[in-house]
Amino acid sequence: MARKKIGLIGAGNIGGELARLLANKELGDVWLYDIPAKENFAKGKALDLEQNGAVLGYDSFVRGTSNWADLEGADVLIVTAGIPRKPGQSRDDLVATNLPIIRDVANNAKKHAPSAFTIVISNPLDAMVYEFKRVTGCAKGMAVGMAGVLDSARFQLFLAREAGVSVKDVRAMVLGGHGDDMVPVLTMTTINGVPVSSLIAKDKIGAIIERTRKGGGEIVNLMGTSAYYAPASSAVAMAEAFLFDQKRLLAGAAYLDGEFGYKDLFMGVPVVIGAKGVERIIEIPLSAEEKAMLEKSAKSVQSVVDVVKKS
Ligand code: LAC
Repeated sequence: MARKKIGLIGAGNIGGELARLLANKELGDVWLYDIPAKENFAKGKALDLEQNGAVLGYDSFVRGTSNWADLEGADVLIVTAGIPRKPGQSRDDLVATNLPIIRDVANNAKKHAPSAFTIVISNPLDAMVYEFKRVTGCAKGMAVGMAGVLDSARFQLFLAREAGVSVKDVRAMVLGGHGDDMVPVLTMTTINGVPVSSLIAKDKIGAIIERTRKGGGEIVNLMGTSAYYAPASSAVAMAEAFLFDQKRLLAGAAYLDGEFGYKDLFMGVPVVIGAKGVERIIEIPLSAEEKAMLEKSAKSVQSVVDVVKKS
């Protein structure tokens, strides 16, 4: 079987960590793309990561480039291109800066990697993946936004620390847009089947939900830039699900065509990812309160998409 080709669009912090994880796992040939002004930077990171294999015992091809032709026929694209948040900025504040960038990426992806499964991480996430699909015209299951795995991971960690149990045993699902209105679904949150409400007091759960919603911002305020370790691992989990046809059920920003009552919108929902990309959207029952929260989140996403549509 031919080796898989994985294109990472953006060689910044998340791009570098993605390349490290993918190389370490020997998931395919990795091309780390960035704009011409950053080509040498991308090449340097790639070379460092290839050399890292000699120490750690992996043998992976990692190359930096600013030439889309090198990404010809890629099986997977992971897009982080764009400017990350600075303290005080919301993800939505990035729309004007990142919109022309995602359009350029989408035009090149359409030309050079038309059959790739594309995972978008650039913010504002739900609007950026919407625009990627619109410009490329790719099949609806072949573009997905990475946010739900990360937001769920943050929620799981905070719950685990509060309950005094291992994070490995916490199951959670955070849906909706990747913004301050995201929807941590408590009915699907358990500690190996044990309802969290039997281990954590209600007011504490409420505080954890708030912290999760602002989880990205908390790190931006601490570091002055966006998180990258957990965002990269989250996207790699989605890429692996596609590459190995794992049929993983994860939260991901998927194109909604009537599911949950929404149309022509990308938003975080439970999806099954396999060799065909997002193969299914699982319409789980939501409580009236959860439906209302999802509606609020969908409205926020729609308002950013409306800005994108007008620009
Ligand atoms: C975050 C960025 C990746 O939430 O959106 O950290």
